[in-house]
Amino acid sequence: MIVIKKVKELTSIVGEKKKAGLSIGLVPTMGYLHEGHLTLAKKAREENDVVIMSIFVNPLQFGPNEDFESYPRDFERDQKLAEEAGVDILFAPEPNEMYPKPSMIVMNVVERTDRLCGEKRPGHFDGVVTVVTKLFHLAQPNRAYFGLKDAQQVAVINGLVESLNFPLEVIGVETVREENGLAKSSRNVYLTPTERQLAPHIYQALKAGRALAEQGEKDAEKVINETIAHLNEHTGAEIDYVELLSFPELTPVQTIKGQVILATAVKYSNARLIDNIIFECE
Ligand code: PAJ
Repeated sequence: MIVIKKVKELTSIVGEKKKAGLSIGLVPTMGYLHEGHLTLAKKAREENDVVIMSIFVNPLQFGPNEDFESYPRDFERDQKLAEEAGVDILFAPEPNEMYPKPSMIVMNVVERTDRLCGEKRPGHFDGVVTVVTKLFHLAQPNRAYFGLKDAQQVAVINGLVESLNFPLEVIGVETVREENGLAKSSRNVYLTPTERQLAPHIYQALKAGRALAEQGEKDAEKVINETIAHLNEHTGAEIDYVELLSFPELTPVQTIKGQVILATAVKYSNARLIDNIIFECE
C-alpha cells in the first residue's frame, strides 16, 4: 500500500492506472477506521483492480458547534488496518491540500436534505458533496462505496452522481453492527461505559418500530411513536429525531407503503449517534 498526501501525486498515479485500463474502487472515509469502513474496503477489493481509500476529516461538513477538532484520529493504526483490508492507495491530504484557497464555486444540495441530519446539520451535505466531488475527480473511480448507516448520505450521493453525470457506480453497503446490534461508528469511542451498555437499544427501538409495521400497522405516526417509546425507555439518550420517510426520495409518508426508512439520531453526553432501518411494506 502506498500513502499519498498530495493531490498531484494522486492524479499522476491514477492517470497511470487508467491508462493501463484498470478499474478503480474508491472508499471515502474520515478515518479512525472500524469494521464498517473495512467492510467497504473489502468489498471494493473484491470488485476492482485498484482500491483507493481516502482519509480526510472534512472541515466543510462540520457545523461551528460540531466535533471537527475533537473528531477521533489515529493515522498509524488506520494505515495498518487499511493495508490489511487490501487498500492499494491511501490518500490522506491535509485540509490546505484539499482546500488551498477559498473556492469560487459553492455546492448546495436542494433535495433530500430538508429532513433527518440535513435538517439538523445545516450545510453538512453541501460540505459532503463538495469533498466527494473533489475525490471523484481526483480518484476517477469506476465504483464508489458508501455505507447505508448514513443512508441519507447515500441518497444524496446518488443524487449528485445522477445530477452531475459522474461516470461511476455508487455502491451502498449494509450497516455493520456489533454483536449487540450497535452500529459501528468512529464516534462510539466517546460513549461512557454506561452509555455503551444502553446504546444497543437504538437498534432495538428501530426494530420494534419495524416489527409493528410488519405486523400490518400502516400509520407512520404509530410506528414512530413505538420507536420513540422504546428509545425513551431504554437508551438514556436525548432524541434528536425519529422519522419515517420514503427511500431514497426521503419524503414524509403518512401511510406506510413501498420502500421506507425508519431513522433516528440520539444524543449522549459526548456523542451524537445515528442509525436507521430500510424496509419494504406492501
Ligand atoms: P465516515 O463517517 O468516516 O464514513 C466513511 C464511510 O463508512 C461512509 O460511507 C459511512 O457510511 C461508512 N460507514 C460508517 N460506519 C459504518 C457502518 N457501521 N457500517 C457500514 N458502513 C459504515 O461518511 C463519511 O465519513 C464522510 O461524510 C465522507 C463520505 C468520507 C465525506 O467526507
